[in-house]
Formats: sequence, structure tokens, C-alpha cells
Amino acid sequence: MSMPMPILLLLLLLLPQGQGHGGAGDICIVGSGISGSSTAFFLTNYTTALSGAQLRVFERRAKVGGRLATVTVSGDHFEAGGSIIHPRNLHVRRFADLLGLEAKTDGDDDWLGIWDGHRFVFQTLRPLPPGTSWLRRKLHTLVNSLRLFKRYGLSLLKMDRFVQEMLQRFMLYYNGFESRPVFDTVEEMLKWSGLYGLTRRTLEAELLDAGLNSQTISELVTVITRINYGQSVSISGLAGAVSLAGSESGLWAVKGGNWQLAAGLLEAANATLHLQEGIDSIEYAGDHYILKSNKGLEYNCVATVVATPLDEVNITFSPPISIPARKTQHTHATFVRGILNPKFFGLSSVSDIPKLIGTMEVPEIPFSSISILKKYSEQDMTYKVFSRVKLNESLLDQIFSGRKETIRINWPAYPHYEAPEVFAPIILDGKQLYYVNTFESAASAMETGAVAAENVARLLIARLRLPLPSRPAAPAPDHHDQRADL
Ligand SMILES: Cc1cc2nc3c(=O)[nH]c(=O)nc-3n(C[C@H](O)[C@H](O)[C@H](O)COP(=O)(O)OP(=O)(O)OC[C@H]3O[C@@H](n4cnc5c(N)ncnc54)[C@H](O)[C@@H]3O)c2cc1C
Ligand SMILES: *[C@@H]1O[C@H](CO)[C@@H](O)[C@H](O)[C@H]1NC(C)=O
Ligand SMILES: *[C@@H]1O[C@H](CO)[C@@H](O)[C@H](O)[C@H]1NC(C)=O
Ligand SMILES: *[C@@H]1O[C@H](CO)[C@@H](O)[C@H](O)[C@H]1NC(C)=O
Ligand SMILES: *[C@@H]1O[C@H](CO)[C@@H](O)[C@H](O)[C@H]1NC(C)=O
Repeated sequence: MSMPMPILLLLLLLLPQGQGHGGAGDICIVGSGISGSSTAFFLTNYTTALSGAQLRVFERRAKVGGRLATVTVSGDHFEAGGSIIHPRNLHVRRFADLLGLEAKTDGDDDWLGIWDGHRFVFQTLRPLPPGTSWLRRKLHTLVNSLRLFKRYGLSLLKMDRFVQEMLQRFMLYYNGFESRPVFDTVEEMLKWSGLYGLTRRTLEAELLDAGLNSQTISELVTVITRINYGQSVSISGLAGAVSLAGSESGLWAVKGGNWQLAAGLLEAANATLHLQEGIDSIEYAGDHYILKSNKGLEYNCVATVVATPLDEVNITFSPPISIPARKTQHTHATFVRGILNPKFFGLSSVSDIPKLIGTMEVPEIPFSSISILKKYSEQDMTYKVFSRVKLNESLLDQIFSGRKETIRINWPAYPHYEAPEVFAPIILDGKQLYYVNTFESAASAMETGAVAAENVARLLIARLRLPLPSRPAAPAPDHHDQRADL
């Protein structure tokens, strides 16, 4: 499948140069989130025929990372978007290791309460004070398990089996090149691992078939899908299984912020980063693409990778592309330094409010979850509230008895999942225009972004007929642009 290097170089030289910036040999990536940055990383990691100097990454914002970002509340930084990483998310795990980023783990000792709008229908035990003996801690864990078992019974085991089965299939995407094809479409990619079926039906239908009882689905499972995707158990099965995996133990995050993954990957790839430069249009010009940015600049690219969801962004394609409509689920993340009002929860003391408030699917409940991010004192904490709609002042004044600081972020967070899912193509125009975020219709997460990006990188390398795996490096065109240096 490889073409001798001199011929490839000749072809690149013969491509028209246009009046735009950069040679026609550039590969352009739109978006610097985990999808765009891992595409850049895999492209340079998989073939030495490509150098960082040929990679341009466009980011309309002033910072890389996209939906990986921190928010600062009273001088402390917290994850505002994508926050937790599963221990079996191998790409992200490897990225962190390679980039020398430290992992931070949560205590598994969460005090969960399930709120139905009137009362907490279920609570795990409140955490033990620090310094409690080993034996008492073991006992505590045991009692917690028994409480869960008493309410949800064997459904807990069935839920775990459902998640493990999904994870096992997902792990096939880490197979070596010999035993894993390059995929042209998301359908093909999901069918190969046996995960496609899960995108055809709702999570609820899948779990009922797996033998879970309806109480477990309407309480525990609902709490988890509302926290992770702001949606009910009618989301599609694969997104549901991914969100359930997000309730397992051993979860971690990058110390100092997950956005550093994106920054580090772009740096490792030596990509040329164009910050605060949004792409307005992508035009196919016979044998290359002309990207026009909001700075009035033009770039010629042999291949273009769209690494952002296209559902709520305005990029004009010419010729036009057609992709299935996909709704975006907005998640409003409200960060509050202050103190919750126990009366809102029918309680007399703040100390009786669980650390993590999950909610059932009841229209009157105005939020999806509330969690404590930091405890300064018994009467002073920082909370993260997720909701489907913006929380107004009067509502916040009912939920909180005191507020020192409030920060609101309205995320175009993830797809609004609706089984059966339909997928946009990976190759948008049958040529060299690729779309990473079509895979988000299967499930949205940092790791799924990386897995989709890895496939796109392999596909692009194969379709540009670059040597894979590594061959001696081709001389890179001269560039004097700013390197990714963050
Ligand atoms: C509140 C919330 C909680 C989440 N929790 C988790 C979690 O715990 N664990 C997990 O794994 N995942 C979580 N996710 C999902 C995860 O954050 C996303 O799936 C992932 O970060 C998406 O990365 P991406 O690179 O595909 O897209 P994005 O991060 O959205 O990156 C796209 C980038 O493209 C840029 N862009 C858009 N249009 C243009 C243009 N025209 N020109 C130039 N640049 C453009 C954007 O500014 C953005 O930086 C969460 C998401 C949200 C919102
Ligand atoms: C490719 O990535 C691996 C880590 O996954 C790293 O060890 C290796 O050095 C990288 N190679 C190149 C050429 O970037
Ligand atoms: C990035 O640049 C550095 C320094 O010029 C070089 O050592 C490294 O190999 C380059 N990495 C890639 C992936 O091109
Ligand atoms: C996209 O463009 C349309 C029409 O010009 C406009 O109404 C809409 O607000 C724009 N959306 C975004 C996300 O910029
Ligand atoms: C605030 O939001 C609540 C719940 O969405 C709504 O009932 C109420 O009318 C809103 N109040 C104001 C002042 O907008």
C-alpha cells in the first residue's frame, strides 16, 4: 500500500500552491480538543513521513482543550467539562504517561443520596471520619454493599456484567494493526467489535433484557445517566453502558486539569497551532482544500480533519456536505461557593445532606446532580450543579441558603442520544475530508474521542498512501510559524 517516497514528494510538489499560507502538503485539523490533538499525535506517531511542520491545528478559542477546561472558583481550579477517566481508558492512560502528567484519584467513599423531589429514597452511608481504623472501614464498605444489595438485589450484578461485556468489546480497539482493520464508517467500526447493536436500542430496553429490575433502572441507573449525559435511561444503549462504566471505582483525572492532555499531545506532535482562529469555510479545490479563517486568511491542505461536532458550529462546506441531523444536549454547569439550604431537601442540618445528590427522572426537579467539590468548613463549600436548563437567581436562592460566588457554564455538552443512532460518514466527501466526531453518536467521552481519532489517523495515512508503520523521515517543508508551545 505504500508509495515510494520520491514519488510521494513529487506529487506533493506538483500540487498547486495557491496564494494561501503553507504548502499544499499540509494536513489541517479543525479543533484542539482531545479529538483534534490526538489526531495530530497519532498522525506523527504512526508515520515518520509526516512531520509536525505539516500539521496545522485551528482553534477558535484562546485556549486548547475544548470541552476539557477548568473553572476557577475562589482561586481553586476544578474541572468544568470532561472530568473523570476510567482505568481501562488505555489511550488517555498512555497519553498521560507519555506526557508526564500525574493522575489524581477520587476517594471511592462517595456519600450518594438519590433525590425524588420530595425525599432521599436511598442513601449510602455517610463517610467515616479520617483516621478510622482499618477494620471499621472494611465493615463500613461491607454494610454499604449490603444496603445497596438490599435495595437493588441481583440487578447490581447484572448491571456490572452488562458494563464489563461492553468494556471487553471496546478493548478490541486497542488491538495491534495486524488484528484490527482501518474503518471507513462508524457502523463498520462498531459492528466489528460487536457494539453496534447497543446503539440501535435504548439503554432501558437493553437493561430490561439483561434482567435488571425497574427500580434499579429508575433509581441507580437514572442517577448515573443524568449525571454523565444529562439524559434519561432512554439514551441509546452504548452511551448508557459508557456512562455506567463512569460509576465504577478507580476513576481518575489529570492533576492540574485534563486539558493538559490536549496541550501535551499537540506539543508532542509539533503541530502548528493557530489559536483564536476559527475556520469559517472548507472548499474543495480539485486536489486540495482551501480553509478560510475568521482572520481572513486562507490555507491549502491536502487533507482536512474536522475534530469538532458539526451540529452547532457554522462551517460552510463547498461543495456542501450532507450529514444526518443530531441534537445537542446542553448541560449547564453551575459552580457555587456557598452552602446548600437543608430546608430545600426537607432536612434540618446541612450535615445531613449527602455529598453527591443524584436525581430521578422527575420533571419538577430543576437539576440533574449536585456534588461537593471542596469543603472549606461545615458552612462553606464549593459545589457543582448540573442541570438541563439555566438555573435562575431565584431558584438558586431556594437551593442555597448562602452564595459568595456563582459561575455558570452552558456546554453544548454531548449528543442528545436517540436510538437507533444514525451516523454521519467518517469520510465526509469521499475524498480527503474526515470527521472524527461522528463517533460521538456512539458515546461521548475523552477516550472515545481518542479511539475515533486513532482510526481517522490510520485511515488518512492509508488513503494518502503514506508509509505505515514508520519509515525513514521525509524532509519537512520549511515553516516559520509558531510551534505548539503552551
Ligand atoms: C459537562 C461535561 C462533562 C463531561 N464529563 C466527562 C467525563 O467525566 N469523562 C469523559 O471522558 N468525558 C466527559 N465529557 C465528554 C468529553 O468532555 C468530550 O467527549 C470530549 O472532551 C470531546 O472532545 P472533542 O475534542 O471531540 O471535542 P471538543 O472538546 O468540543 O473540541 C472541539 C474544539 O473545536 C473548536 N472549534 C469548533 N469549531 C471550530 C472552528 N470552526 N474553527 C476552529 N475551531 C473550532 C472548539 O472551540 C473546541 O475547542 C463531558 C462533557 C461535558 C460537557
Ligand atoms: C509513539 O507513541 C509511543 C507511546 O504510545 C511513544 O512511546 C513513542 O515514542 C512515540 N513515537 C513517536 C515517533 O512519536
Ligand atoms: C518535534 O520536534 C523535536 C525538536 O525539533 C524533535 O526532536 C521531535 O522528533 C519532533 N517530533 C515529531 C513527532 O515530529
Ligand atoms: C450559524 O449561522 C446562523 C445563520 O447565519 C445563525 O443563525 C446561528 O446563530 C449561527 N450559529 C452559531 C453557533 O454561530
Ligand atoms: C426561575 O426558574 C424556575 C424554574 O425553572 C421558574 O419556575 C421561575 O419562573 C423562574 N423565575 C424567574 C424569575 O425567572
